[in-house]
Amino acid sequence: MISEAILNSIKKARRIVVFSGAGISAESGVPTFRDDLTGLWQQYDANLLATPEAFTQDPALVWGWYEWRRARILAVEPNAGHEAIAKWQQHAALSIVTQNVDDLHERAGSDKVIHIHGSIFAPRCTKCKKPYVFSSNYFQEPESGRRIEPPLCPVCQNIVRPGVVWFGEPLYEPDLCAAIYEAENSDLLIAVGTSGLVQPASLIPRWAKDKGAVVIQINPTSTPIDEVSDYNIRATAAQALPEIVDALGFDSIVS
Ligand code: OAD
Repeated sequence: MISEAILNSIKKARRIVVFSGAGISAESGVPTFRDDLTGLWQQYDANLLATPEAFTQDPALVWGWYEWRRARILAVEPNAGHEAIAKWQQHAALSIVTQNVDDLHERAGSDKVIHIHGSIFAPRCTKCKKPYVFSSNYFQEPESGRRIEPPLCPVCQNIVRPGVVWFGEPLYEPDLCAAIYEAENSDLLIAVGTSGLVQPASLIPRWAKDKGAVVIQINPTSTPIDEVSDYNIRATAAQALPEIVDALGFDSIVS
């Protein structure tokens, strides 16, 4: 599946960025957003759940939905794609820019993960912005559609919100700057499991390419990133990434 040409350009790379989207977590059992039938935005209305206006209008509906998603993420494990990246990171200068709000890269053993769309595990106060720490008995085993009142900030008693970026909100600037820095200073960017439809995140492969990086995309279907990519690998993350990492031969390196 992985051609010699692809492997050769990977072997030449000195600074690598993996740019991941929901597709990398799909084989762990976390639904993507836009896949036909299974995508979250096929089943739920993003306007009612993933905008600042939605939260203002019905905080319990929004908080309950994010608690349902957090529960699903806690119930699954990283897959072979996440694990291959974590292994690769032990042997190369590789950073991860993810649009995912899950923690599956970290649980697979990766560090240096830039979460440009925030983290479902990092809620914060709407007013004083202090992080809210879930207590160990907070978890409420939510079901889809169950309304749950958000907790109040222990510091200022204002309402706590999910720590994710919603439609219509700017990205957190330090994360965006860090992502741009990594992309512009890479010589290889691997875009995996993203539809490339949400800006500004979807511009990251373009920014890397404009500074001379080789761009490789791993996605079973075509996306707007095809245009920017030097190589398109039509496979899933859990198929292609272990194959690449095996071919790099780290197991035979004796340190
Ligand atoms: P999407 O759901 O838009 O796209 C998922 C992509 O993953 C699609 O192109 C699929 O073809 C691909 N895919 C599915 N299964 C795969 C697999 N096993 N291996 C590799 N690829 C696979 O998800 P994102 O591009 O991440 O925003 O969506 C971008 C943003 O839109 C998300 O971060 C979220 C959403 O609204 C926020 O939360 C702010």
